[in-house]
Amino acid sequence: MTLPDIPPEDLAEVAVERADTIPSAWYRDPGFEPLEREAVFGITWQHVGHTSQVPAAGDHLVAMVARKPVLVVRAGDGRVHAFYNVCRHRGGPLALKDGHADMLQCRYHGWTYRLDGMLRGVPHFNRTELFDKRDYGLIPLRLAEWQGLLFVHLAPDPRPLETFVAGVAERMAPMRFDDLRFVRRVDYEAHCNWKVYVDNYLEGYHVPHVHPELCSLYDFQAYRTEVYDWYSLQVGPLSGKDTPYGVSSGEALYYFFFPNVMLNILPGRLQTNVVVPLAPDRCRIEFRYYYAEVESAAARRVIEDDLAFSDAVQAEDLEICERVQEGLESGVYDRGRFSPEMETAVHHFQSLLKRAFRQRLESTR
Ligand code: FES
Ligand SMILES: [Fe+2]
Repeated sequence: MTLPDIPPEDLAEVAVERADTIPSAWYRDPGFEPLEREAVFGITWQHVGHTSQVPAAGDHLVAMVARKPVLVVRAGDGRVHAFYNVCRHRGGPLALKDGHADMLQCRYHGWTYRLDGMLRGVPHFNRTELFDKRDYGLIPLRLAEWQGLLFVHLAPDPRPLETFVAGVAERMAPMRFDDLRFVRRVDYEAHCNWKVYVDNYLEGYHVPHVHPELCSLYDFQAYRTEVYDWYSLQVGPLSGKDTPYGVSSGEALYYFFFPNVMLNILPGRLQTNVVVPLAPDRCRIEFRYYYAEVESAAARRVIEDDLAFSDAVQAEDLEICERVQEGLESGVYDRGRFSPEMETAVHHFQSLLKRAFRQRLESTR
């Protein structure tokens, strides 16, 4: 892998009051993509779904994590497993989309695997010599569940997921994510680097300018940002106006977990966003919606209002992010500065990114 040539001073972590934003090359140079895949996405817990999406044995989810196809499946003993979605014959896929199967059957030549990953059926292999099916099970990867949210990790021996989410459960109580039901997934594609989308998410600074309607739902003077080891939290106290969320008081909590997971929480409702890099100037944002109450007519109306409003806000964010990408590619801008009141979470994200790059680059020296 050819790593981008980054001057050491660009990787130094500097206090928000004095720091520059990261250089524009980081948002457009293709050399960052393999570095990020290995040094960021390859060594962090990656969110892939919720246990309510795989309630029964054989229910499964598919995902791409750092460009690797991943399959999450509930086995007969009730345990949820994660495997690479890559057949041991010649690399075919076991599943093309989320669904249900009693056995995992490769879509290419039909090898079958048990739900625990063991290879079982191998058509037309009777004359193959020195072949033991036990050597060709699916390749497992680390899976962790936290309050129903499922995460996978590509490294063999990661630090427990709990260390990264410390303090969140207490802050959200009495709400718990495992009480919620999955309702819908909506994907968006953005013509911007994934970090443009993340930076934008991490500040309320743009809200009055980009989202006037959303802004009126908050007591914006009381909007605040808190920064922790591996995550940040933006708190938007609701203003008392009617909202599309079926509540008018309380707080909206916006958690960001490094490097690419967002939990947007209102009473009885969770929306997750996962930002997936596709190319230096392209990313996909996966929205998943979960609710405590899904059956009643009133609940269904709240869900439809929430989805429609979120879609409109997302359109505003995509528009500005794509214009920012143009600015970053223009050659007339390199780096800027931070507001210590409004952009501490952006600074925190960029500092963690620098740290991840530094650790990876130092390990090769
Ligand atoms: S690649 Fe899976 S059966 Fe051939
Ligand atoms: Fe926004």
